[in-house]
Amino acid sequence: MQAWKRSVWCGDLRVEHSGQTIRLNGWAHRVRDLGGLIFVDLRDRSGLVQVVFDPQVAPELMELAGAIRTEFCLAIEGEVRQRWPGSENPKLPTGEIEVAVKSFTILNASKTPPFPLTEEDNEVDENIRLRYRYLDLRRPSMYTRLETRHKAVKVIRDYLSERGFLEVETPILIKSTPEGARDFLVPSRFSPGKFYALPQSPQQLKQLLMVSGFERYFQIARCFRDEDPRADRQPDFTQLDLEMSFVEQEDILSLMEPLLFEIVEKCSDKQSPKPFVRLTYEEAMQRYGSDKPDLRFGMELVELTDLLKETPFQAFRGVIESGGIIKALTLPGCAGYSRKEIDELTEFVKRFGAKGLGTIALSEEGIRSPIAKHMAEHEPPAIIERSGAQNGDLIVIVADQTKVTLDCLGRLRLEMGKRLGLQDPNRLVFAWVLDFPLLEWDDENQRWSPMHHPFTSPQAEDIPLLDTDPGKVRAQCYDMVCNGVELASGSIRIHQRDLQDKIFHLLGYTQDQIDERFGHMLEAFEYGAPPHGGIAPGIDRLAMLLCSDENIRNVIAFPKNAAYVDVMFGAPSEVDEAQLRELKIKITP
Ligand code: AMO
Repeated sequence: MQAWKRSVWCGDLRVEHSGQTIRLNGWAHRVRDLGGLIFVDLRDRSGLVQVVFDPQVAPELMELAGAIRTEFCLAIEGEVRQRWPGSENPKLPTGEIEVAVKSFTILNASKTPPFPLTEEDNEVDENIRLRYRYLDLRRPSMYTRLETRHKAVKVIRDYLSERGFLEVETPILIKSTPEGARDFLVPSRFSPGKFYALPQSPQQLKQLLMVSGFERYFQIARCFRDEDPRADRQPDFTQLDLEMSFVEQEDILSLMEPLLFEIVEKCSDKQSPKPFVRLTYEEAMQRYGSDKPDLRFGMELVELTDLLKETPFQAFRGVIESGGIIKALTLPGCAGYSRKEIDELTEFVKRFGAKGLGTIALSEEGIRSPIAKHMAEHEPPAIIERSGAQNGDLIVIVADQTKVTLDCLGRLRLEMGKRLGLQDPNRLVFAWVLDFPLLEWDDENQRWSPMHHPFTSPQAEDIPLLDTDPGKVRAQCYDMVCNGVELASGSIRIHQRDLQDKIFHLLGYTQDQIDERFGHMLEAFEYGAPPHGGIAPGIDRLAMLLCSDENIRNVIAFPKNAAYVDVMFGAPSEVDEAQLRELKIKITP
């Protein structure tokens, strides 16, 4: 074959091309040898097309064609022809035609792949997929995921560029910037014994760009955090990082909403109700037991503490007297749950700290409840009325300290939402969670720690509380959540040195630590720093939602596995003695 480069993409061929001689490049996705005829589904990034080696067209090719195996890399030249009536494949966009091969070249042979790359096979062990990621990415569904991600980033770049934002790159080797995780450290050869930190986010740098007068900045930024693995985390991940000057909270929210709707519209076939739902942090916690609620379904938590103040049931009363709360959740249609099923739910909440799970089942025959006999006669009916439960429903109740009660029922709500099929995969329901507390008490270290990060501004009217009741101070901070995922966090920042100083002191930093770690920021604030604020949506999580994935690794080309190991490169790995010597580093066992 003289000319071997493609004249057309596999996936673009249609009946209109019949009679044309074309050239294709790609991989043998599937090979079927039917004695006389050899069929190959040829795949390139645009899709699949059936090519046929037919002895009536080119008998001299049949022997070499017999050597083709799956994943061989091929160039073929052939004539597009309509398939025989009845042999069309309605599942393929190219299913009405096939290409009769006139000549071909095997550009490269392939070993048998360690797992089938056909779409039907999703049962492959993830570590094997990651070990051979370059093959895993040959699957059309993986290509589509990365294409979706690309499209989303393109919408972001266009949208922000049209609105006067400048994309600015910031360094990867910096000094530690606190975002709540551990830093990844990089030893310096020129300054032995000293380390750079990889940025957990470009937070301080974007604030400094505001001091520089850039006013509207964004970056598709790589971030690095040494924190415990979770399905929606990676140690290195990507944010749309964004910052604006002379703005208030509302300006950031109204910039982001249309952007997210445009992304959903252009990069998925999902529906998103407009506008974003708005909840305060307190409301989100009380109604959904989570600061990142899945709002695709109702099933809200119901308050019972006030109803049961006088209850004779000691297990409940004791909790109320010790400052705890009692809440219920109605599980629709679950009244028929067996003993075993209820035990499973109980085990589920116990894993997250609850001591037990009270239940009231409402059936045609009346109520079934192991706890009712301990309560006053009027209490079970009052609980049923308050919870709005109907015949056929099961009410589950947790009584514990506030944090445990909300967390357990919040998790159970999600679990049951999943089991009962209430999480519509075709909907992305966005919400803003607002009015977060600025600080939370860190029991372990006996000090205040920032709920978001230490640069977040308190709400103006709460500033006096910093001296009297820091736990009550609300932040000018906003989280964007979607379908139970925290998609973005942002805030209006502190831009005055004295307030920033005060917050650092409240967080327990000594003056020396403040000067050493944040001196550059505080100094910058003394040169007319403007009021500013921003936000940072996670790009990986966004792509995950657009692609209906629950595993963030599926939308990242070369991710680490669930234990943060890169099983393809074998990283992290040991390094040469000589490298360590240069860095003046000794490994102690
Ligand atoms: P925050 O720490 O909340 O805020 O991060 C913002 C968003 O980044 C994504 N994200 C992650 N994605 C994958 N893996 C991780 N390990 C990971 N950690 C965070 C999430 C999250 O909502 N500088 C502030 C933003 C600001 O205030 O402007 C920040 O980084 O989607």
